[in-house]
Amino acid sequence: ADYDLVVRGGQVASGFGTMRCDIGIRGGRIAALADRITDGAAVLDAGGLLVLPGGVDSHCHIEEPARGGYVGTGGDLAVTVNEESFRTASTSAFAGGTTSVVCFVPQWKGEGILPRVADYEQRAAKGMLDYSFHQIISDPTDEVLEREVPQIVAKGIRSLKVFLTYEPLHLSDEQFLKVLVTARRHGCLVTVHCENYAAIKWRTEMLLRAGMTAPKYHAWSRPIVVEREATHRAIALAELVDQPIQVFHVSCAEAAEEIARAQHRGLKVWGETCPQYLTLTAADMDRPGFEGAAYMCSPSPRTVEEQGRVWEMIRRGTLDIVSSDHCGFSMGGEAGKAVSGRDAPFRDIPNGIPGLAARLPILFSEGVSKGRISLEHFVRLTATNPARLMGLAPRKGVIAIGADADLALWDPKKRVTIANPLMQHAIDYTPYEGLEVTGWPVATIRRGEVVMRDGVVQAEPGTGQFLPRAPYDFIAPRGVLADGFDAAPRA
Ligand code: URP
Ligand code: ZN
Ligand code: ZN
Ligand code: ZN
Repeated sequence: ADYDLVVRGGQVASGFGTMRCDIGIRGGRIAALADRITDGAAVLDAGGLLVLPGGVDSHCHIEEPARGGYVGTGGDLAVTVNEESFRTASTSAFAGGTTSVVCFVPQWKGEGILPRVADYEQRAAKGMLDYSFHQIISDPTDEVLEREVPQIVAKGIRSLKVFLTYEPLHLSDEQFLKVLVTARRHGCLVTVHCENYAAIKWRTEMLLRAGMTAPKYHAWSRPIVVEREATHRAIALAELVDQPIQVFHVSCAEAAEEIARAQHRGLKVWGETCPQYLTLTAADMDRPGFEGAAYMCSPSPRTVEEQGRVWEMIRRGTLDIVSSDHCGFSMGGEAGKAVSGRDAPFRDIPNGIPGLAARLPILFSEGVSKGRISLEHFVRLTATNPARLMGLAPRKGVIAIGADADLALWDPKKRVTIANPLMQHAIDYTPYEGLEVTGWPVATIRRGEVVMRDGVVQAEPGTGQFLPRAPYDFIAPRGVLADGFDAAPRA
């Protein structure tokens, strides 16, 4: 046979249009697209189904050991454990039609990054998903920036992640500038968590002093203005250095408008949002006792009206990637959401919610099935655009000859009520429990191998591949400098 596998009779959605054709796969890659392909060693019938590029989730936290992890401002820094391993994350991703991720190598203050990278390479190699890394910089010493960053770039890690808030992670403007300069010098994208640390810290202290400690006050501690301000500041500093950035998890129109303005002015600034900002609200955290912690993430979910505005910024193209920001904190046990106890003030509850498996079904249902976006737009948001911005295209994110044969076979009519067992992750809950969706993946193919069928995941641990990234267009500086003075010359 000419092909190892033929996917027959599906509607193939490429991100640029949809056509009925067969896909011939050889050696893990797409080798032919044609009306009819007959000579396959195996055939998968996709009649009545959509065939999508496997999802690319460019923002998820997997097996990320965090010292005082994603907690607010001040307070004790308990050690949180991200419960998702690369194995369980792979199973969850495949269950939801995602085949590659970009996840995070942590940096703990006082430490270098190289030992963490080595540790993380070993962890990731045990999974089944294909993966690349963002390197978190929480302690930008000269040693880290000048000696270590070039070494991870040489390995093909081409994005640095910075936080402008969180007690153990936030950088000052001066530190952020140093990271931007380093990224420009060595050829990396910088991804940014944009919220104002000092403003959140002040509001949190006032709320706690007033006895307002319940999970719902998490939203009160970080209103839209703190996100908009930090987004504006991050963009301004990136403009000053002439360094491309991506703003992570945009929750509101005001922050998206900062990005739109920057884009209009020609800056290389991109914005991502996540399903939680399209489906959850701050009111979800207003539940008795500890229950609201299940919906706690940063930035905070907003209102139904704000969800509509975020959709509009997706439609306009300002927000062009939807990732999960998957975070593995269970509600039960002692290491997850309850690490500081079930009556801890909101400040000490880890931020972040799981969503690796739910991302594609939620965006398809709320977006395509409900008529908010086209099928092609859905494919660009969930696969093509993240692959391109992260330097993984055209190997990932497209259905084209030569690309990896990563596919999600999708039943656009299947109705499913989301429930935690369907997520197949290591976490004991999903914030989307009970949400009804129309459209569901019925098979997932990773590099030509059927790794999920009808919800059953079968893949050999240790088969996930690292995706090294070469220099690419998106991360090249524009060459537009204030006063024409290059204060951050490239290596
Ligand atoms: O609340 C969130 N988003 N937790 C995950 C870490 C981050 O900020 O991306
Ligand atoms: Zn973040
Ligand atoms: Zn502004
Ligand atoms: Zn995140």
